[in-house]
Amino acid sequence: MRKTLGLLFLFSFLAASLVGFSAYCQEDISFVGDSAFTERMRPSVPFLHDDHNEMANIEDCNECHHVWEDGKKLEWDSSEDKECSECHLSQESGDSDMDLIKAYHNMCKECHIGQKAGPVQCSECHIK
Ligand code: HEC
Ligand code: HEC
Ligand code: HEC
Ligand code: HEC
Repeated sequence: MRKTLGLLFLFSFLAASLVGFSAYCQEDISFVGDSAFTERMRPSVPFLHDDHNEMANIEDCNECHHVWEDGKKLEWDSSEDKECSECHLSQESGDSDMDLIKAYHNMCKECHIGQKAGPVQCSECHIK
């Protein structure tokens, strides 16, 4: 009996830590919600992270989560541990001074325009 209880306890602990962990995974992202935008002028943008990337056939995380050095994008480095605003708002060395809204719009829209797929109009992304 004691052994069973112990196992049950261990199991629920493991289950709880798994649930806790997955809460921070990109699978659960359904909106782009950069914490830098505190007062929004537009509705936030629906973005099913993993589904989007699968559908769009994007394999490299650094297609979006990039790292740059001396004006060049590093092929083998990525920054998925950072929000875009961590680099596109601050002026620290190595950071980009590209305005944050422009950074999002350029990245999202330019690929959609280039591939003739995905939304390009304001209201197609900022859905009420
Ligand atoms: C099409 C662009 C794109 C691609 C490709 C992409 N991501 Fe993301 N990812 C985003 C955006 C946008 C966010 C939300 C960013 C924000 O809120 O600052 C995000 C958020 C995340 C977060 C959460 C970070 C946080 O601060 O909450 C993780 C983790 C993540 N991505 C991992 C990955 C991994 C791993 C891959 C490759 C398998 C990947 N991403 C590929 C666009 C992308
Ligand atoms: C680790 C810092 C860092 C992070 C995180 C980061 N960027 Fe950048 N980004 C840069 C730097 C540096 C440049 C290049 C210099 C410049 O153009 O100002 C750049 C360039 C860009 C460009 C222009 C070049 C291109 O590839 O088209 C866009 C658009 C862009 N970033 C969007 C984003 C978006 C959207 C995110 C979040 C998914 C993001 N960046 C995350 C640092 C970062
Ligand atoms: C490297 C290219 C690329 C980038 C970067 C990219 N997308 Fe897309 N996106 C696509 C493609 C391709 C499709 C069409 C997929 C299809 O319908 O088969 C698409 C479709 C979409 C759709 C409609 C389908 C859906 O998932 O509901 C939305 C919304 C979308 N993208 C939002 C975004 C946002 C927001 C960003 C920036 C954070 C972004 N995309 C960045 C390539 C890209
Ligand atoms: C391809 C998708 C896409 C299109 C098209 C698009 N946006 Fe955005 N926009 C975004 C994403 C992604 C963000 C980043 C942030 C978030 O929601 O956290 C953003 C952020 C913004 C912000 C800053 C956040 C806020 O709500 O104040 C404004 C303002 C904005 N967009 C206006 C526009 C306008 C105006 C148009 C049309 C000219 C437009 N956007 C077209 C994806 C898009």
